[in-house]
Amino acid sequence: MTNPVLIAPSLLSADFSRLEEDIRRVEEAGADLLHLDIMDGHFVPNLSYGIPVVKAVRRVTDLKLDTHLMLDNPLEFLEPFRDAGADSITLHLEACPEPATLIEETHRLGMECGFAVNPDTPVAGLLPFVADLELILIMSVEPGFGGQKFRPEVLPKLAALSTWMTEHDQHAALEIDGGVTPDNAAACRRAGAGLLVAGSSVFGAADAAAAIAALRGDEQAS
Ligand code: DX5
Ligand code: ZN
Repeated sequence: MTNPVLIAPSLLSADFSRLEEDIRRVEEAGADLLHLDIMDGHFVPNLSYGIPVVKAVRRVTDLKLDTHLMLDNPLEFLEPFRDAGADSITLHLEACPEPATLIEETHRLGMECGFAVNPDTPVAGLLPFVADLELILIMSVEPGFGGQKFRPEVLPKLAALSTWMTEHDQHAALEIDGGVTPDNAAACRRAGAGLLVAGSSVFGAADAAAAIAALRGDEQAS
Protein backbone atom coordinates (compact mmCIF):
# COMPACT_ATOMS: atom_id res chain seq x y z
CA MET A 1 0.00 0.00 0.00
CA THR A 2 1.36 3.42 -0.90
CA ASN A 3 0.58 6.38 1.33
CA PRO A 4 -2.65 8.17 0.45
CA VAL A 5 -2.21 11.56 -1.19
CA LEU A 6 -3.23 14.56 0.91
CA ILE A 7 -5.35 17.42 -0.43
CA ALA A 8 -4.79 21.04 0.61
CA PRO A 9 -7.42 23.44 -0.74
CA SER A 10 -5.94 26.90 -1.31
CA LEU A 11 -7.96 29.54 0.49
CA LEU A 12 -7.15 32.08 -2.23
CA SER A 13 -10.13 30.73 -4.18
CA ALA A 14 -12.55 30.84 -1.23
CA ASP A 15 -15.36 33.35 -0.92
CA PHE A 16 -13.84 35.84 1.54
CA SER A 17 -17.26 37.25 2.43
CA ARG A 18 -18.14 33.77 3.77
CA LEU A 19 -14.79 32.49 4.82
CA GLU A 20 -15.86 30.37 7.80
CA GLU A 21 -18.66 28.77 5.79
CA ASP A 22 -16.30 27.98 2.92
CA ILE A 23 -13.71 26.50 5.29
CA ARG A 24 -16.40 24.24 6.81
CA ARG A 25 -17.45 23.21 3.33
CA VAL A 26 -13.98 21.95 2.37
CA GLU A 27 -13.40 20.44 5.82
CA GLU A 28 -16.58 18.41 5.48
CA ALA A 29 -15.60 17.55 1.92
CA GLY A 30 -12.44 15.82 3.18
CA ALA A 31 -9.66 18.43 3.00
CA ASP A 32 -6.55 17.25 4.85
CA LEU A 33 -4.95 20.68 5.35
CA LEU A 34 -5.62 24.29 4.36
CA HIS A 35 -3.11 26.02 2.08
CA LEU A 36 -2.64 29.73 2.81
CA ASP A 37 -1.02 31.89 0.10
CA ILE A 38 0.69 34.99 1.46
CA MET A 39 1.78 37.47 -1.24
CA ASP A 40 3.67 40.72 -0.76
CA GLY A 41 3.35 42.53 -4.09
CA HIS A 42 7.16 42.37 -4.49
CA PHE A 43 8.22 38.75 -4.75
CA VAL A 44 5.04 38.19 -6.74
CA PRO A 45 3.01 40.83 -8.60
CA ASN A 46 -0.03 40.44 -6.38
CA LEU A 47 -1.23 40.98 -2.82
CA SER A 48 -3.36 38.46 -0.99
CA TYR A 49 -3.95 38.55 2.77
CA GLY A 50 -1.87 38.55 5.90
CA ILE A 51 -1.64 37.85 9.59
CA PRO A 52 -5.15 38.93 10.74
CA VAL A 53 -6.75 36.56 8.24
CA VAL A 54 -4.48 33.66 9.28
CA LYS A 55 -5.47 34.35 12.91
CA ALA A 56 -9.14 34.35 12.00
CA VAL A 57 -8.77 31.10 10.05
CA ARG A 58 -6.99 29.53 13.02
CA ARG A 59 -9.98 30.34 15.23
CA VAL A 60 -12.43 28.43 13.03
CA THR A 61 -10.54 25.28 12.06
CA ASP A 62 -8.29 22.60 13.49
CA LEU A 63 -6.94 21.70 10.05
CA LYS A 64 -3.21 22.07 9.70
CA LEU A 65 -2.37 25.47 8.18
CA ASP A 66 0.13 24.99 5.33
CA THR A 67 1.43 28.53 4.90
CA HIS A 68 3.09 29.44 1.61
CA LEU A 69 5.07 32.68 1.94
CA MET A 70 5.60 34.48 -1.36
CA LEU A 71 7.60 37.26 0.29
CA ASP A 72 10.94 38.92 -0.36
CA ASN A 73 11.88 39.11 3.33
CA PRO A 74 10.26 36.13 5.08
CA LEU A 75 12.66 35.96 8.04
CA GLU A 76 11.01 38.84 9.85
CA PHE A 77 7.55 37.32 9.39
CA LEU A 78 8.18 33.80 10.68
CA GLU A 79 7.30 34.60 14.28
CA PRO A 80 4.17 36.65 13.49
CA PHE A 81 2.84 33.81 11.32
CA ARG A 82 3.67 31.27 14.03
CA ASP A 83 1.82 33.42 16.56
CA ALA A 84 -1.12 33.66 14.17
CA GLY A 85 -1.38 29.87 14.08
CA ALA A 86 0.64 28.60 11.11
CA ASP A 87 1.70 24.96 11.47
CA SER A 88 4.14 24.88 8.59
CA ILE A 89 5.91 27.58 6.64
CA THR A 90 7.05 27.19 3.05
CA LEU A 91 9.59 29.68 1.73
CA HIS A 92 10.81 30.26 -1.81
CA LEU A 93 14.34 29.30 -2.79
CA GLU A 94 14.32 32.28 -5.21
CA ALA A 95 13.77 34.65 -2.26
CA CYS A 96 16.07 32.78 0.15
CA PRO A 97 19.08 31.41 -1.73
CA GLU A 98 20.69 30.40 1.59
CA PRO A 99 18.03 28.32 3.32
CA ALA A 100 19.95 27.14 6.40
CA THR A 101 19.15 30.11 8.71
CA LEU A 102 15.49 30.13 7.71
CA ILE A 103 15.09 26.40 8.25
CA GLU A 104 16.72 26.69 11.66
CA GLU A 105 14.58 29.64 12.69
CA THR A 106 11.34 28.03 11.46
CA HIS A 107 12.13 24.91 13.48
CA ARG A 108 13.16 26.95 16.52
CA LEU A 109 9.71 28.52 16.41
CA GLY A 110 8.12 25.07 16.46
CA MET A 111 6.89 24.92 12.88
CA GLU A 112 7.57 22.53 10.04
CA CYS A 113 9.64 24.00 7.24
CA GLY A 114 9.16 23.70 3.50
CA PHE A 115 10.96 25.17 0.52
CA ALA A 116 9.35 25.96 -2.83
CA VAL A 117 10.76 26.30 -6.32
CA ASN A 118 9.17 28.12 -9.24
CA PRO A 119 8.55 26.20 -12.49
CA ASP A 120 11.85 27.26 -14.05
CA THR A 121 14.01 26.87 -10.92
CA PRO A 122 15.98 23.62 -10.67
CA VAL A 123 15.82 21.71 -7.39
CA ALA A 124 19.63 21.35 -7.22
CA GLY A 125 19.88 24.25 -4.76
CA LEU A 126 17.59 22.39 -2.36
CA LEU A 127 19.29 19.01 -2.35
CA PRO A 128 21.79 19.85 0.43
CA PHE A 129 18.84 20.76 2.68
CA VAL A 130 16.34 18.01 1.91
CA ALA A 131 17.17 16.09 5.10
CA ASP A 132 16.28 19.19 7.16
CA LEU A 133 12.96 19.92 5.45
CA GLU A 134 9.50 18.51 6.14
CA LEU A 135 8.15 19.72 2.80
CA ILE A 136 9.28 20.52 -0.74
CA LEU A 137 6.87 22.40 -2.96
CA ILE A 138 7.11 22.30 -6.75
CA MET A 139 5.22 25.21 -8.33
CA SER A 140 3.31 24.17 -11.43
CA VAL A 141 2.43 27.81 -12.32
CA GLU A 142 4.31 31.07 -11.81
CA PRO A 143 3.36 32.07 -8.27
CA GLY A 144 1.08 35.05 -7.76
CA PHE A 145 -2.39 34.10 -8.94
CA GLY A 146 -4.91 31.31 -8.54
CA GLY A 147 -6.73 29.84 -11.51
CA GLN A 148 -3.77 29.55 -13.90
CA LYS A 149 -3.11 26.70 -16.29
CA PHE A 150 -1.08 23.75 -15.03
CA ARG A 151 2.41 23.44 -16.54
CA PRO A 152 3.03 19.73 -17.18
CA GLU A 153 6.70 20.37 -17.97
CA VAL A 154 7.39 20.53 -14.21
CA LEU A 155 6.45 16.86 -13.77
CA PRO A 156 9.84 15.42 -14.82
CA LYS A 157 11.50 17.66 -12.21
CA LEU A 158 9.09 16.35 -9.57
CA ALA A 159 9.61 12.74 -10.67
CA ALA A 160 13.41 13.11 -10.64
CA LEU A 161 13.31 14.61 -7.14
CA SER A 162 11.00 11.86 -5.94
CA THR A 163 13.39 9.20 -7.29
CA TRP A 164 16.38 10.99 -5.74
CA MET A 165 14.60 11.10 -2.39
CA THR A 166 13.79 7.40 -2.48
CA GLU A 167 17.40 6.60 -3.38
CA HIS A 168 18.64 8.77 -0.51
CA ASP A 169 16.03 7.53 1.98
CA GLN A 170 14.51 11.00 2.35
CA HIS A 171 10.94 11.49 3.49
CA ALA A 172 9.97 15.17 3.14
CA ALA A 173 6.46 15.57 1.71
CA LEU A 174 6.40 16.47 -1.98
CA GLU A 175 3.78 19.10 -2.71
CA ILE A 176 2.64 20.45 -6.06
CA ASP A 177 0.84 23.79 -6.35
CA GLY A 178 -0.83 25.58 -9.23
CA GLY A 179 -3.52 24.57 -11.70
CA VAL A 180 -4.01 21.12 -10.15
CA THR A 181 -7.33 19.59 -11.26
CA PRO A 182 -8.86 16.10 -11.34
CA ASP A 183 -7.60 15.92 -14.96
CA ASN A 184 -3.90 16.24 -14.11
CA ALA A 185 -3.92 14.91 -10.52
CA ALA A 186 -3.13 11.32 -11.56
CA ALA A 187 -0.02 12.52 -13.41
CA CYS A 188 1.03 14.51 -10.31
CA ARG A 189 0.54 11.48 -8.09
CA ARG A 190 2.46 9.24 -10.51
CA ALA A 191 5.34 11.73 -10.53
CA GLY A 192 5.56 11.37 -6.75
CA ALA A 193 3.45 14.19 -5.30
CA GLY A 194 2.06 13.28 -1.89
CA LEU A 195 0.33 16.60 -1.27
CA LEU A 196 -1.80 18.36 -3.87
CA VAL A 197 -2.74 22.03 -3.49
CA ALA A 198 -5.93 22.90 -5.30
CA GLY A 199 -7.68 26.27 -5.19
CA SER A 200 -10.14 26.81 -8.00
CA SER A 201 -10.74 23.11 -8.63
CA VAL A 202 -12.00 22.60 -5.06
CA PHE A 203 -13.57 25.93 -4.02
CA GLY A 204 -14.96 26.42 -7.52
CA ALA A 205 -16.51 22.95 -7.71
CA ALA A 206 -20.25 22.53 -7.15
CA ASP A 207 -19.43 19.32 -5.25
CA ALA A 208 -16.22 19.87 -3.27
CA ALA A 209 -16.27 16.31 -1.87
CA ALA A 210 -16.36 14.83 -5.37
CA ALA A 211 -13.55 17.16 -6.46
CA ILE A 212 -11.38 16.16 -3.49
CA ALA A 213 -12.09 12.45 -4.02
CA ALA A 214 -11.18 12.79 -7.71
CA LEU A 215 -7.94 14.65 -6.86
CA ARG A 216 -7.08 11.91 -4.39
CA GLY A 217 -7.80 9.27 -7.00
CA ASP A 218 -10.43 7.47 -4.96
CA GLU A 219 -11.79 4.53 -6.95
CA GLN A 220 -15.41 5.56 -6.77
CA ALA A 221 -14.59 9.11 -7.98
CA SER A 222 -13.12 8.02 -11.30
C1 DX5 B 1 -0.31 30.59 -6.62
C2 DX5 B 1 -0.62 29.92 -5.32
C3 DX5 B 1 -1.51 28.74 -5.42
C4 DX5 B 1 -2.88 29.00 -5.97
C5 DX5 B 1 -3.47 27.71 -6.39
O1 DX5 B 1 0.68 31.53 -6.40
O2 DX5 B 1 0.58 29.50 -4.70
O3 DX5 B 1 -1.60 28.10 -4.15
O4 DX5 B 1 -3.72 29.62 -5.05
O5 DX5 B 1 -4.69 27.96 -7.01
P1 DX5 B 1 -5.20 27.12 -8.26
O6 DX5 B 1 -5.36 25.71 -7.78
O7 DX5 B 1 -6.48 27.76 -8.62
O8 DX5 B 1 -4.15 27.22 -9.33
ZN1 ZN C 1 0.40 28.28 -2.87
